[in-house]
Amino acid sequence: MAMETGLIFHPYMRPEHTARETFEWGVQSAIAADKAGLTSMMISEHASQQWENIPNPELIIAAAALQTEHIKFAPMAHILPHQHPAKLAIQIGWLSQILQGRYFLGIGAGAYPQSSLIHGIKNGADTEFTNTMVRESLEIMEKIWKRDPFFFEGKFWNAGYPEQTVSDDPNDEQHLLADFSPWGGVAPEIAVTGFSPKSPSMKFAGERGFRPISIFSGLDALKTHWETYSTAALANGHVPDRARYHVSQTVFVGDTDREAKREVMEGPIGYCFEHYLIPIWFRFGMMDGFIKDAGAERGDVNLEWIVDNVFVVGSPDTVVDKISTLFEKSGGWGTLQVESHDYYDDPAPWFHSLELLSKEVAPRIKLPEKVGAAA
Ligand SMILES: Cc1cc2nc3c(=O)[nH]c(=O)nc-3n(C[C@H](O)[C@H](O)[C@H](O)COP(=O)(O)O)c2cc1C
Repeated sequence: MAMETGLIFHPYMRPEHTARETFEWGVQSAIAADKAGLTSMMISEHASQQWENIPNPELIIAAAALQTEHIKFAPMAHILPHQHPAKLAIQIGWLSQILQGRYFLGIGAGAYPQSSLIHGIKNGADTEFTNTMVRESLEIMEKIWKRDPFFFEGKFWNAGYPEQTVSDDPNDEQHLLADFSPWGGVAPEIAVTGFSPKSPSMKFAGERGFRPISIFSGLDALKTHWETYSTAALANGHVPDRARYHVSQTVFVGDTDREAKREVMEGPIGYCFEHYLIPIWFRFGMMDGFIKDAGAERGDVNLEWIVDNVFVVGSPDTVVDKISTLFEKSGGWGTLQVESHDYYDDPAPWFHSLELLSKEVAPRIKLPEKVGAAA
C-alpha cells in the first residue's frame, strides 16, 4: 500500500480575486485533483480572513459533486461553535447523500478569534471554552443523525427530533419524516484538525477514534500529535492507525529541481508567503518548530530558507527523497494533504505538479508499517 495524496484548499487567494473567481478556482481544482488521482479534497471554513476567503466549504463541495467521480470531499473544518448543530447535522447528512458517500466531516474549534466574534463569541481565543462548544455541538449532531426522538437543552444550543408519526393508512405520506442521516450509517466518518503542540483536538480525536489531521509544523509537533492521539485512542479501545493520518504540507513537484524551486520562489506560493503566511507562521509558533528542526536561527528565515528547509519542492526523485526522510524522522502518515495555492490565473504548472505528485511520487512512498503508540 502506498501513500495517498489529497488537496487542502484554504485557499490562500490573493485579495484582489473576487468571490466568483475563488469559487471557480475551487471547483476547477476539485475536477483537476479528481482527474490526477488525488483521493481527497479538504476545504476550509473562514468567516474573517481575506486570504482564506471561503465561508461555506459545502457550496464548493456541492458544486463539484456532479463533476467529479472518485475524489472524497471534506469540509476541514466546519467550525462547530459558529453554527447551529441541528442545521449543520441535516446539511451534512444531505450532502453526504448527494455525494453517495464521497464525503467525510472535518470538525474544528476555529483558528481566528475575529471569526468567533462575528458569531457572537467574545472569548474565541479561549480554546478550552470553544472546545466545550465543539463537544456539545457534536453530541447534538449525533443525536439528530440517530433519528430517535429527543429534546436536548444544552449550555449553548437546544435541539430535538420529533416522534415518527406512524399511520395505519399506507397512503398517508403527509407525516413521513425525511431521512437526512448521513450516507450509509448513523454518522459520517469524522476527522479532527490538530494544530498546537499539546493539541486537545488530537486527544479528542483519539478518544473517539476519529481521523487525525495535522498541519505540518515541525517534527516535535508531529511527534506529540501522534503520541497524544495514539495514547487517547488506545485508552479508549481504538487502534491508532497511521494509514488514517493526514498531514498537510506545502509541496511542489516540477520536471527538475531548478524549475520547481524557481516556480515556488517566483510564483503564487512565494507571493503568498511573503505577503501573508510568514508572519502568521511566526505568530502561531510554527516557525519555531522549523527553525529547531533545521538547527537555524530566527534571523536565517526568509522565503528561500523556507523553500529549502520546510517545503517539499523538487523533481519527482527529490520529492520522494524528501518525503521518505520525513517519514523516517516522524513515523509517517497515510495521506499527504497538499496545501493549495492561488494558481487561478495560470493553473497549468500547479495541475502538472499535482499529476507528478500523484502518479510519480506517491506510489513510491510506502505506508508506515507499524501501528500503535510506539510507531
Ligand atoms: C488541517 C487543519 C485545518 C484547519 N482548518 C480550519 C478552518 O478551516 N477554519 C478555522 O477556523 N480553523 C481551522 N483550523 C484550526 C482549528 O479550527 C483549530 O483551531 C485547531 O485545529 C486547534 O488545534 P489544537 O486543539 O491542536 O490546538 C484547522 C487546523 C488544521 C490542523
